[in-house]
Amino acid sequence: MSTDSVQSNTPRHVAIIMDGNGRWARKRLLPRIEGHRKGVKNVRNLLEALSTSPVRYLTLFAFSVENWQRPKEEVDALMDLLKQFLKRESRLLVRNRIRLEIIGGREELPEDVRQELDRVQRETSEFEDHVLTLALNYGSRTEVLDATRRIAQDLADGSLSEPPATWEEYRPYLYTGDMPDPDLIIRTSGEWRVSNFLLLQGAYAELYFCDIPWPEFTINHFNEALESYSRRERRFGRVSTSPVEV
Ligand code: FPP
Repeated sequence: MSTDSVQSNTPRHVAIIMDGNGRWARKRLLPRIEGHRKGVKNVRNLLEALSTSPVRYLTLFAFSVENWQRPKEEVDALMDLLKQFLKRESRLLVRNRIRLEIIGGREELPEDVRQELDRVQRETSEFEDHVLTLALNYGSRTEVLDATRRIAQDLADGSLSEPPATWEEYRPYLYTGDMPDPDLIIRTSGEWRVSNFLLLQGAYAELYFCDIPWPEFTINHFNEALESYSRRERRFGRVSTSPVEV
């Protein structure tokens, strides 16, 4: 999506950094994985709401390139939860006509997870109404390196005659391809940073930080974020057209 996009009160694309699962669990003297399990239930609730929402694209940061450095039991448990989620929720995606997309390094994911991803992507590939994108083994810096490598390959084999000179020529090399840029990026659990998530695509995104840990983030909180977005004026580097208040 170009930055000339029409100003709208509802974001077309919302991306979420689902943070705070571990802290939520620790506060309750539960293992961290219980926070992730509760977090997955929340994803389900959000997907139910998405089907009737004007938000067309929802992108969730489910596993970062840095998350491999967590203890092996936690990484294994997260991959297992992901697999269960895909097995259980593929019907919900089909019923609600939500297409599944993946961004990130797919090849490094476990084989059984990749198989489930392939299956659900196949089953939902025709849907246009809504798009759920899972960022898995994702990091913006890795994405830029991958894009650069692919551009170099295309130049070398002649499928590209000159290096991209404009953003419109460069953007198809990102994992997100022609998906519109996020209008709104939400991060839960009180941290004010974007942690290597959609750094280029989110260049003009509105940011929304809230203190609620992801396992407690409800549709009402989601709607509050949309409400906050609707009150903002996006200028994309241009001059305000709103009347000046005195
Ligand atoms: C951050 O909480 C969350 C993650 C690293 C993983 C998010 C994953 C899920 C919600 C489950 C899998 C998702 C899907 C779509 C099936 P944290 O562990 O960093 O929390 P902390 O900062 O409190 O430790």
